[in-house]
Amino acid sequence: MRTGIGELDDVLGGGIVRGSLVLIGGAPGIGKSTLTTMALGHMCQAGRRTLYVSAEESAAQIRLRAERLSGGKALAVPVIAETDLHTVLATLEQERPEVCVIDSVQTLHSVELSSAAGSVAQVREVAGEIMRVAKRLGIAVLLVGHVTKEGALAGPRVLEHLVDCVLQFEGERERTYRTVRAIKNRFGSTNEAGVFEMRDDGLVEVLDASARFVEEATRSPGSVVLCAMEGSRPLLVEVQALVSASELVPPRRVVAGLDRNRVALVLAVLGRHGRIGLGSADVFVNVVGGVRADEPGVDLAIALAVASAAKRIALTGADGRPLACFGELGLTGELRTVAHGDRRLAEAGRFGLTPVLEPATHGTLRSALNAALGEQRSVAAAA
Ligand SMILES: Nc1ncnc2c1ncn2[C@@H]1O[C@H](COP(=O)(O)OP(=O)(O)OP(=O)(O)O)[C@@H](O)[C@H]1O
Ligand SMILES: [Mg+2]
Repeated sequence: MRTGIGELDDVLGGGIVRGSLVLIGGAPGIGKSTLTTMALGHMCQAGRRTLYVSAEESAAQIRLRAERLSGGKALAVPVIAETDLHTVLATLEQERPEVCVIDSVQTLHSVELSSAAGSVAQVREVAGEIMRVAKRLGIAVLLVGHVTKEGALAGPRVLEHLVDCVLQFEGERERTYRTVRAIKNRFGSTNEAGVFEMRDDGLVEVLDASARFVEEATRSPGSVVLCAMEGSRPLLVEVQALVSASELVPPRRVVAGLDRNRVALVLAVLGRHGRIGLGSADVFVNVVGGVRADEPGVDLAIALAVASAAKRIALTGADGRPLACFGELGLTGELRTVAHGDRRLAEAGRFGLTPVLEPATHGTLRSALNAALGEQRSVAAAA
């Protein structure tokens, strides 16, 4: 069943499978209720029987949101505000929706268990009972789950084995861009990711995120464009770095949108093989727009952004456009090939970003640095 939200359908592998259980996890306020409300609104309008169960908000609150979103389509979705599991199950039996949202699995509770709502036992019981009823009646269920920043909350973790599909909703609350990716999918690939922008009237699919990010790229020292992969789709994002003298021992390493260990490794390689030592400097590295870039191909972008910031040299490509790059760094300073090189290059080509610094043209970090920063300057720096 198509949800009517293209990016979500792609991530699910074409739509929601009848009778399946999909868990959508995400930090508080990220937009889980927004996304599920919008999906139900579209499906309701397409003539499907839908039901929205909220154990967190009152019917009035849900109505307010529905009025705001995508032209009020979701206003036609039947809503129950209920925290008791058995009442919810009885409603499912009675209403027999084709698709239903449970918001959230942590706030429903079963009176048969004495533990508090949200405890592991409760969450398991709630999800298990809902699954039994949903499979029997062929109801597709979107379970909303809360995850703390560290992914620490026991709830959704214990559910991952139970459900057919786990979607992770990511991004930073203060930023407008959000991504949805599948961590587990029994019906499709886990490589897909959808990009959304949070607006007043709801989450809007960002169909050409690359165009947006390239246009916004600053081209100042410390900035480089990364040809990243979001699942099987190439995405150009800006990676920014700032290097400043530190008063702290040890100096700060602040990272957003990237893996901290990966950044630490790249800084070490940069010091050893790129001769750009940062020992006593604070280093900040960030992927712009709240995007997460979690793949080996980001290494070169981190290295170039940091080198550019440290040397205060702006990196530019042809015609003053931003410089683009990708590639993994080996510990001996070599650049290693990463998956989907051709798609990354094609995406950069679409925006006239040439040349792209990548493993096929530059065998080592040193050679990529020379190309990016200009031969003379880096020779002088090395001397
Ligand atoms: N009037 C508004 N205009 C624009 N954006 C809004 C508006 N109201 C809420 N938002 C956005 O919606 C987000 C909350 O969305 P939503 O309620 O779907 O999140 P959630 O993941 O369900 O949160 P929770 O964990 O609290 O249930 C806010 O963080 C804010 O970015
Ligand atoms: Mg919510």
